[in-house]
Amino acid sequence: MKIILTYGTFDLFHVGHVRLLQRLRDLGDHLIVGVSTDAFNAKKGKRATMAYSDRAEIVGALRYVDQVIPEHDWPQKITDIQKYNVSIFGMGDDWAGKFDELKAYCDVVYLPRTEGISTTSLKSTIYERNVAA
Ligand code: CTP
Repeated sequence: MKIILTYGTFDLFHVGHVRLLQRLRDLGDHLIVGVSTDAFNAKKGKRATMAYSDRAEIVGALRYVDQVIPEHDWPQKITDIQKYNVSIFGMGDDWAGKFDELKAYCDVVYLPRTEGISTTSLKSTIYERNVAA
């Protein structure tokens, strides 16, 4: 069985997230998604709009996702790859090259991002429309 692993915040879940997870799942048999906890995001200086439990529930409801785990810190990637016997680690290509050290443990792929959508751009659109209203 080919196991794929990815991580992300997945705040304000959008079509770029769906397409990434769909394409990752197509690479194998079992997709594990590590969703960043609120505490980990705070460490990264990032604050999600939606709480971890809601983001994890939405990601877990997708047909492409077989398993959701919490992402607590940076070093857990190596331990998760070993613990879950991961064959492929994958992220969107805004992360290209950033996780190449994981190639010592499994295949690493960076898939093209969906153009024109991000959590950041959604937040800006919501903000601008409310300011203009
Ligand atoms: N992703 C993607 N296409 C997009 C947006 C995100 O493929 N248009 C991918 C990212 O490359 C990452 C995963 O989805 O592998 C989770 O990304 P996340 O940071 O949660 O989403 P973003 O929309 O990029 O959030 P932000 O704007 O806060 O960076």
